Amino acid sequence: MRGPMEHQVAIIGTIADTLILPLFEGTNKPPNRALVGLSRNAQSQVKGAFASEDFDGKAGKTLSLWDSECKVILLGMGKSDGLKENNARDAGAKIVAGLGKTHGKNLAVRFTSGWKSNQMIAFAEGMMLRDYKFDKYMSKDEDDDDDDTPYNVTFQASARHQEQLTAGCNRAAAITTGVHIARDLGNEPANVLYPMEYASRAQAFAKGKGNLSVTVLDWDDLQENKMGGLINVGKGSEHKPCMVIWELNAKAKDGPCPIIIGKGITFDTGGISLKPGAGMDEMKFDMHGSATVFGLMVALHGVNHKGHMMGISCMAENTPSSTAYRPGDVIDTYSGKTVEVLNTDAEGRLVLADGLWKAGEFNPEYIIDLATLTGACVIALGHEASGLWSNDDELLERIRKVASDSGELAWPMPLLPAFEKQVTGSKIADVKNLGERYGGSNSAAAFLKQFVPEQGEGDDKKQYPWAHIDIAGTGWGTSTNATVAHGATGVHVRTLVRLINDE
Ligand code: BES
Ligand code: ZN
Ligand code: ZN
Repeated sequence: MRGPMEHQVAIIGTIADTLILPLFEGTNKPPNRALVGLSRNAQSQVKGAFASEDFDGKAGKTLSLWDSECKVILLGMGKSDGLKENNARDAGAKIVAGLGKTHGKNLAVRFTSGWKSNQMIAFAEGMMLRDYKFDKYMSKDEDDDDDDTPYNVTFQASARHQEQLTAGCNRAAAITTGVHIARDLGNEPANVLYPMEYASRAQAFAKGKGNLSVTVLDWDDLQENKMGGLINVGKGSEHKPCMVIWELNAKAKDGPCPIIIGKGITFDTGGISLKPGAGMDEMKFDMHGSATVFGLMVALHGVNHKGHMMGISCMAENTPSSTAYRPGDVIDTYSGKTVEVLNTDAEGRLVLADGLWKAGEFNPEYIIDLATLTGACVIALGHEASGLWSNDDELLERIRKVASDSGELAWPMPLLPAFEKQVTGSKIADVKNLGERYGGSNSAAAFLKQFVPEQGEGDDKKQYPWAHIDIAGTGWGTSTNATVAHGATGVHVRTLVRLINDE
């Protein structure tokens, strides 16, 4: 597999195998510093492109020019004033998507007039994010189009941008590492990545890092703790379930802390309520919530986050067998509430029920769970936005905002009493794991709400601020997501870094 992109920040000067010139609309000649270091031939080609109006800087337009020393890609960015970070990020990602063997591995990106530091950083981040491949299981031969050498990119800008650009690119690189790890986990097939393998990888990552600890509740611990959600969903598989608890900066503990929970179904066959065969392979991504938690821990550690925060990954494999749970079973959960299982394919909410209740033991400031929870959410929002539910308007708005700023939309969805009624209407247990046919992502959220822990006493008792993010449609590659070719997206690692680290 190719290593991560290497990068430097420098003032405008040297050229490379390929020079990328992202340029704004509205001039008929190249900006002053754009052509520094280029050969006469390359300079006259660029000037000619401007003069002939073959290149006009309109957003998305590209022109590639060939020179024996340095290829040049002119990239139109549209108007400089209106360039949003999200668009700059996508433009950077698209440039990387279009690179081939002939462009070489040494790249220079030159930001000239009109560019602001935050836009440059977003462009660089887009390049880093898109530079990802999951090809570890592919045999390589000598004629392969690509080799394993990572790109080496120099981001060039004027002296006054150096400090901010350097810090921003380093931060983007650290966060990208987390996003790529989340993608690796999502893409990893289920014969390789099963619950305890996730736990070992978490422990391996935490090893030697003084401010990060990982605690694993294994099969025996789950029994001791009566975590019936995890136990029942996972008991049909030879690969037993577990809960992985992450803690960053325990020493900085001074009051409540954010807790992020991930659904980690390493494979979802549906269990006894077996899924249809077509497309079932995709259900290896059913642990993307937990992949995002892992990537988030890596990213927060990488950006040197100082605050106390925790993660909880609820890991199980949902598969039919003679020891599997079945429709009609009534199970206990960690909360003490009983659940009538009406469909074993609605398993995510059961493992999350235990994770949510566990979070109540750690003095949460707020609790956010991420889950590839329902096909109904994909029907509602397609692959364009995650569904977002919350019992706290302020928390919902904060998440909506940082998700939008990150280019990872999270769309508010209704947490209505009517949906709660659907899941609390069991004749023989406290809750049932299935609502009515329509609005299935809302009844799933309403189910989770039954397991959100409370704070305070007596009349003051109320649930901790909690949000649920359904990533069933956004967890894997979509043609409209420029930052990823295909497969797992690593969605919401960046959103949550903004939420937790930027405030
Ligand atoms: N993992 C699936 C949800 C899913 C579906 C994720 C498609 C990504 C793409 C989940 O466990 C599930 O099977 N949900 C059922 C719930 C139903 C039985 C109430 C669903 O969505 O059909
Ligand atoms: Zn399922
Ligand atoms: Zn599932």
